[in-house]
Amino acid sequence: MNKIIKKIKNLQNKITYHNYLYFCLDKPIISDIKYDYLLNKLKDLESKVINKKFINSPTRVIGSSIFKKSKFINHLTPMLSLENIFDKKKFINFYKKMLIFSNKKNIQFCCELKFDGVAVNLIYINGLLKQASTRGNGEKGEDITKNIFFIKSIPLVLNGVNFPKIMEIRGEIFILKKDFISLNKKNYSMNNSNFSSARNLASGLLRRKILDHSFKKHLLFICHGFELFNYFKNIDSYYFNLLKIKNWGFHISEKILLCSSKNKILNFFKKIKNLRSILKFDIDGVVIKVDSLKLRQKIGLISRSPRWAIAYKFPNDMQKTKLLKVKFQVGRTGVITPVGYFKPVIISGVKIKKASIYNNKELKKLNLYIGDKIFICRAGDVIPKIVNKETVFTQVSKKKVIFPKKCPSCLFILKSCIKKNNFYCTNSFFCIPQIQKRIIHFFSKNTFKIKGLSPHIINQLIKKNNFRNPIDFFKLNFNILQSLKNVGQKTANNILHSLKKFNCISLEKFIFSLGIKGIGRSVSYNLANSCGSLKNLLNIPKKNILNIPGIGESICTNLINFLSNPNNLNIIHQLINKFHIKVFFKKNKSVIIKKSIFYQKNILITGQLKNFSRIEITQKLESLGGIVKNYISKNIDLVILGKNPGKKFIYAVNLKKKIITEDKVLKVFSKI
Ligand code: IVH
Repeated sequence: MNKIIKKIKNLQNKITYHNYLYFCLDKPIISDIKYDYLLNKLKDLESKVINKKFINSPTRVIGSSIFKKSKFINHLTPMLSLENIFDKKKFINFYKKMLIFSNKKNIQFCCELKFDGVAVNLIYINGLLKQASTRGNGEKGEDITKNIFFIKSIPLVLNGVNFPKIMEIRGEIFILKKDFISLNKKNYSMNNSNFSSARNLASGLLRRKILDHSFKKHLLFICHGFELFNYFKNIDSYYFNLLKIKNWGFHISEKILLCSSKNKILNFFKKIKNLRSILKFDIDGVVIKVDSLKLRQKIGLISRSPRWAIAYKFPNDMQKTKLLKVKFQVGRTGVITPVGYFKPVIISGVKIKKASIYNNKELKKLNLYIGDKIFICRAGDVIPKIVNKETVFTQVSKKKVIFPKKCPSCLFILKSCIKKNNFYCTNSFFCIPQIQKRIIHFFSKNTFKIKGLSPHIINQLIKKNNFRNPIDFFKLNFNILQSLKNVGQKTANNILHSLKKFNCISLEKFIFSLGIKGIGRSVSYNLANSCGSLKNLLNIPKKNILNIPGIGESICTNLINFLSNPNNLNIIHQLINKFHIKVFFKKNKSVIIKKSIFYQKNILITGQLKNFSRIEITQKLESLGGIVKNYISKNIDLVILGKNPGKKFIYAVNLKKKIITEDKVLKVFSKI
């Protein structure tokens, strides 16, 4: 029996470690299949020990359901939707009906903002977050637990003690307008794709399998509903329950009106409508809810919507204008994007004259003809969007907008994916816009950063001097640079000096600089870590590529195609051999061998250690300049994770603290 317990403990540790790599670092080192295998093995072993409960086992704690085959979770109570109204008359109707239902002259309403985000359901058991899912069909929703895990405004462990054993917390996940703009830009540069609204971006991020930390930190949560299963029977107010929930660690809206007057509610609607454009996040109306929970029960539902609440939506700020032309733009990786140009309109104070039509699917849906009267809005109050067109009889003389068969720039026949939603120009080495964008990317901030080599200069060299690949730029001379527009002596010298000085780059940046479709910064990082050297990368077998986190069939094919193209290999070899660029790989950036990672760090230990007693490790850490603490706090820099960690581990994860395993500690010690 002891043997089997030992096996179980080992496996629990192993899986906890892999959970950490997956959930905290987004850098798993084993495949989902291998993970499933380990988890099933553990379940199997645990089921053999009948008289022992493994409370802290990864088969029971948060996150363990993530790899279950089924991606859907049943809500404990149905998630309803709201009936929408758009005018004052309908609101007054609703108001009067509520008074009739209540049999009273006066009842309290709770008025809130209608957040334009993604509805989620969070299930807490004994104060711990167990599962998170989207609304789905109202009965069950998509399992998003793994991505919810690190949204700061969602507590993993509730504050206080007086909360129901089981409860559902409902609300909206969203991102700020400013973050939408910057993340969309970043997403475009990494994946060549755009989201049309903050809501879509938040929803996309929540469903992403691998969520880049720099993206997920922008997701926010606000609570606007709950199911406490009669726990606070004595508090018959939605609003006062919300305040309780706030104390447990959730965010609730700052703009809530509790009142019974019809006119005050109408004023609230007007006030919020005027504030809408200066709010930091998207809203599309206000929600008016009966406050008494008992009265809500009495009033009941109509099909999937409660009768006791209503969404009073803002009218869409749309403008009608004339479509002038549609241009087909070529992106860095050859993706063609239609862009509609129209007679300028002003929406929310901003002049707009063009809008992306994203892809062929959207273009077909809009069924555009040049000269059509089209309706423009700003999706999520920010991004210009062609919503639809005036449906009048189309004149025969009008020209229908269709996706071209050839690249608008180099006339190469376009390729498409199976559904023909996206088209690509595969003439990468001869298609000027692709060359321009690729070279701008190659010499950008996070790749081969060359001081002074601006997009303006790059474009001139490509157009005037027939520069076609990075090698041409490494051969630049003073005379060529001086012949360009707006390039003075100082800029020319800066560029030449910077090119001459550039002699080494990390493998991760080098891979990213190649601009391979689908290989953004995080995939480059994973590739670099798996390969360890440029030589290994150039010879990597397909089966190894598919084991790398973040790489599926299509990215794998892109990489293989790239690496089997002699033009690409020639450029890589010239960079290394002729221009002596060193591509280096540093295994572990965080280990400072000279002083060790423990020097002057506040360290917390959680769980039992295999190799040291607490006193031994404390002494050892202190002798290396570390400060060992007993409690988790904001000031902790590093957490050492042992077997069967306790709540400190969850707090540490919640506070995004750096966590290392005992094995890592041993490794560091052995190097000193
Ligand atoms: S209450 C039964 N309150 O609107 C009541 N919903 O059309 C259900 N929403 O899926 C929700 N802001 O995600 C409520 N202050 C708010 C809301 C809100 C946005 C969303 C919610 C729901 C959708 C219903």
